[in-house]
Amino acid sequence: MQIVLAPMEGVVDHLMREMLTQIGGYDLCVTEFIRIVDQRLPARVFHRICPELQQGGKTLAGTPVRVQLLGQEPHWLAENAVRAVELGSPGVDLNFGCPAKAVNKSRGGAVLLKQTEQLYQIVKAVRDAVPVEYPVSAKIRLGYDDTSLTLANAEAICAAGASSLAVHARTKSDGYRPPAYWPWIAKIKQHVDIPLIANGEIWSAADAALCQQQSHCQDIMLGRGALAMPNLAQTIKQQQAVMPWPQVLQLLMHYSEFEITGDKGKYYANRVKQWFSYLKLQYPQAACLFKQLRLLTKSTDILTLLTYTLQQQKTSA
Ligand SMILES: Cc1cc2nc3c(=O)[nH]c(=O)nc-3n(C[C@H](O)[C@H](O)[C@H](O)COP(=O)(O)O)c2cc1C
Repeated sequence: MQIVLAPMEGVVDHLMREMLTQIGGYDLCVTEFIRIVDQRLPARVFHRICPELQQGGKTLAGTPVRVQLLGQEPHWLAENAVRAVELGSPGVDLNFGCPAKAVNKSRGGAVLLKQTEQLYQIVKAVRDAVPVEYPVSAKIRLGYDDTSLTLANAEAICAAGASSLAVHARTKSDGYRPPAYWPWIAKIKQHVDIPLIANGEIWSAADAALCQQQSHCQDIMLGRGALAMPNLAQTIKQQQAVMPWPQVLQLLMHYSEFEITGDKGKYYANRVKQWFSYLKLQYPQAACLFKQLRLLTKSTDILTLLTYTLQQQKTSA
């Protein structure tokens, strides 16, 4: 089975990809989306979103990182897809699932799920432009408001030559509300002959097994669950135990070392708090510690609190 780390704009950036792929279990990462409107973007935009391009399109742990594009113009998406692979991306992923209002208003993301023909034209243009040895994948939701076009959309993407299709098994209107409708992926599978990747609501190894069973899909993509449990992929692949809380604390401290290369002064403080919002879902200790951490704005203060908490854990163990 293959496990893909889901693209998560504003959450899973190159530093998070570095941390999570070092822990292991991921076969592929997809970057946050790059918005394409009506021009060929300069290399620096690709390098900002995907610094891994400068190290062979892989994280330091060796996991390939594929650039994701979001837009509505086949021609400009194709131009930028070519640029992405020229810069070293091992393929290109196309985002047809983003629910953000601003993005949908300008006809990008999930709103394209209402326009099957446009989906086809986009995938075809990108596939025709990108050298055949590079995969062109797509990521969809089940639909915009409903599932009336789910199968037609998947068929169009497949007919246009996509190499694989990740399916977030909810409509745009479903937002992120559980459940994810995994059996829908099994239905799609009967209509397309490209590899599918099942995505949505996988928080544990048991969820992964149930998802595989209901979606008839071996390959899965992990989003929020990967942040809630940093070794989720390894609990699925290697039957590892859930990472113990003291080890998570160490990981959070290790994350602070990345600040030097981060692009904003408040990077660590902001990102670590955001990470806590996911960790709280898995670790009761995180909810408790977050109450103290919430008010801290300096990395050094956060680090002191984490060090103190870890020492206390060790003493009481
Ligand atoms: C904060 C956030 C940012 C996201 N950004 C992207 C993105 O840039 N591109 C994309 O295709 N999906 C994006 N997604 C959707 C995820 O890739 C994934 O499909 C979704 O979270 C469902 O998987 P999960 O239940 O495992 O989290 C985002 C989701 C979240 C919560």
